[in-house]
Amino acid sequence: MRIAEMREANVRRAYARWAGSYDMTFGRFAESSRMAAVAQLNLLPPGRVLEVGVGTGMSLPFYQPHLKVTGIDLSPEMLAKARARVARDKLSQVEAILEMDAAHLDFPDASFDAVAAMYVMTVVPDPAAVMAELARVCKPGGVVMVVNHFSQDHGLRGAVEKGMSRFSERLGWRPVFPVATVMGQMGLVLEEGVKLKPFGLFTLLRFRRSGPVARGQGLLDS
Ligand SMILES: C[S@@+](CC[C@H](N)C(=O)[O-])C[C@H]1O[C@@H](n2cnc3c(N)ncnc32)[C@H](O)[C@@H]1O
Repeated sequence: MRIAEMREANVRRAYARWAGSYDMTFGRFAESSRMAAVAQLNLLPPGRVLEVGVGTGMSLPFYQPHLKVTGIDLSPEMLAKARARVARDKLSQVEAILEMDAAHLDFPDASFDAVAAMYVMTVVPDPAAVMAELARVCKPGGVVMVVNHFSQDHGLRGAVEKGMSRFSERLGWRPVFPVATVMGQMGLVLEEGVKLKPFGLFTLLRFRRSGPVARGQGLLDS
């Protein structure tokens, strides 16, 4: 099944609407998987982390101070919440919160030791372009972490996801989104894939960055 189209203007509109209630709704529901990803990142040696689609910054207080975190997002309303959190909680591990498109990252190649995208890949208009950018800005040997809901094509869950798919743009994410959509990116080698709480709905994928990747270098031929 084809994945639904997401237009940037609609994504912006959806998250302008969600920003006020996000933390108490999806943000809270997704908390344990987000925490599992941050716990893995905290095991890395000192270095720079990029969190793509940082949203309201719910993860930010949980990064250990040996990591220096930059968060980027497309939505000014979500970013305003993240900036307020950084100021309120005096989060010295946060280096910068920037408005930026994950498909066109304004960072040089190999800028970060780790790059994370949590609950973002189902949302972005061009997932392949985002995967290429995650690989490009990560240093060789670094970690790219993706946490997401990936759809099933069978069973009750698959049927529900297909039924919800036509509301993708209103929801601000794609219920139908096979894991294959984020696989095969040049320069990224999958090291681990684990299903996470609640109910195994989310999956954490940890990739290791291999050789150099130039801007725009896309999927491996299968
Ligand atoms: C479901 S929220 C996830 C927020 C956060 N990562 C979390 O763990 O709660 C998805 C976020 O991705 C952002 N987003 C969507 N498309 C984007 C893009 N092309 N570039 C950067 N951020 C994007 C949205 O604005 C939203 O804040």
